[in-house]
Amino acid sequence: AAEAAKPTILVAEKLGKGGVDMLKEVGTVDCSYDMTKEELLAKISLCDAIVIRSATKVTREVFEASKGRLKVVGRAGVGIDNVDLAAASEVGCLVVNAPTANTVAAAEHGIALLCALARNVSQADAAMKDGRWERNKWVGVSMVGKTLAIMGFGKVGSEVARRAKGLGMTVVAYDPYASAEKAAALGVTIVSMDEALSRGDFFSLHMPLTPNTKGMFGDDAFAKMKKGARIVNVARGGVIDDDALVSALDAGVVAGAALDVYEVEPPPADNPLVGRPDVICTPHLGASTKEAQEEVAYEIAEAVISALKGELTPSC
Ligand code: MLT
Repeated sequence: AAEAAKPTILVAEKLGKGGVDMLKEVGTVDCSYDMTKEELLAKISLCDAIVIRSATKVTREVFEASKGRLKVVGRAGVGIDNVDLAAASEVGCLVVNAPTANTVAAAEHGIALLCALARNVSQADAAMKDGRWERNKWVGVSMVGKTLAIMGFGKVGSEVARRAKGLGMTVVAYDPYASAEKAAALGVTIVSMDEALSRGDFFSLHMPLTPNTKGMFGDDAFAKMKKGARIVNVARGGVIDDDALVSALDAGVVAGAALDVYEVEPPPADNPLVGRPDVICTPHLGASTKEAQEEVAYEIAEAVISALKGELTPSC
């Protein structure tokens, strides 16, 4: 019998070599990074699977342009908010992700930003590079004994909690789906959203972006916070309402923010937060460690291969 044609797998964003090599064992792999939307639309009808990170938007238009050929979208990471899931299911395309490999990387980046925020590391570094020795200007705040409110107590939130306990912080978490027993085993108390808002000295956000979490940190939430709270976001930009954060910073309700993610990435030049001295920014680096990217590549390659072989039912 004739051998079944090899699937064509489009790798649309940089993927670790180990994962690409795995994909090459089962299909023809086209690594085309940094495509324009038009280039993607032109290519997609030639592909059985696509592997993406967060920059590629797999919209309804992309599924339509695939003319039924696209069978698998592999998200080399956790968040699948850049894939139109309704459109995927309408055309019978599986969406798979890599749910575990970058957990620790994201948690470590959250802790890095938390520490940088408490001690003005970025601002002091920028001042020194600018020739200024500002020991009095950049006095920070201590973390020991302070309360960290973790918003979204899934895999990453739990890893942040473990590390924050090591820094001597009191950790509370808000997550409507979290188990209080599992949290208690880590020394974390699950509280209501309002209690988290009123108790947190520091906030670390770890929820996915969904219609329910979009704009969750808006005027109402900031109004319930302690004056001088600090907020870290390594989750998704859309969970914070940027204008509300600007107002909270201007009013001193929020003393500082550290952002790794933005509603639009890269943020446009007129983004009201990026240029502020009380906001630290990194360019969506949460998952970007050498180790995590190698592991993510294996994890997503395995999921995509299983999905192409028909061994998987939708996992997300
Ligand atoms: C994720 O959702 O896992 C991250 O956004 C990963 C990434 O940087 O692609």
